[in-house]
Amino acid sequence: MTSWKTLLNRSYVPYSRSPRTCAVVGQSGSIYYGVRIESASFPLTITEYQCSIFSCLSTGDKPVRLLLPADSPAVPALWTDTYKLDVRFAGELPDLPSGVVQLEGELDIASKLKSLQEYCVVGESKFPVACVIKTGQGRFISGVNVELNDWQAGLCAERIALAKALASGVSTFHEIHITAAKGDFISPCGACRQVLVEHMPYQKVVLYHPDGTMSEHTPAGLLPNFFNGKSIIS
Ligand code: THU
Repeated sequence: MTSWKTLLNRSYVPYSRSPRTCAVVGQSGSIYYGVRIESASFPLTITEYQCSIFSCLSTGDKPVRLLLPADSPAVPALWTDTYKLDVRFAGELPDLPSGVVQLEGELDIASKLKSLQEYCVVGESKFPVACVIKTGQGRFISGVNVELNDWQAGLCAERIALAKALASGVSTFHEIHITAAKGDFISPCGACRQVLVEHMPYQKVVLYHPDGTMSEHTPAGLLPNFFNGKSIIS
């Protein structure tokens, strides 16, 4: 059974050294873990609320309850109001199945990316983006973009997949495959390039463009002369 302590240890907080966690229970009865994931670029830090709520939404589930360890700070009203969450402090995490699926074995990535599009939450942009990360263990974790009315609170597919993986205890990433159905050339935004370079600088980024072509990159190649925060981690 996963404990709060385990989740705190999965937080990526090399700058503040202040781990934070929470968990969301979805309508399906599955649990979605949330951990804080800091970025060397301050505002790109993914909060534990984004991590857990977007993990839930990205699988087509509906967030119902937000669980917090006893000494947690108050939850910003944006999250409780938007999703009408029932907030509870919990001494221990309930023993519920994790809603984050880690697919194993051979995967037809192109068709998986297509089938993920239905989970994108794109009320604002109507621009669905889906991705699949291949982990160091050879498993696959998916992500889709999730938007709110409050534009700055949403997250791209790539960062949601990365957050789901880290909250699931995965910390090595081998490949990320990304697609968008619209436009001409899909390309990770600057914020995703920064976050990807902090976690998988020289790994493969495979882009599946809407015109049917593909291209291969690395986060380091997409963000020349990057700052990855290593020099400030003691
Ligand atoms: N988006 C992604 O999810 N990934 C990308 O690589 C590019 C952009 C999303 C963010 C937002 O939901 C929408 O696409 C428009 O920017």
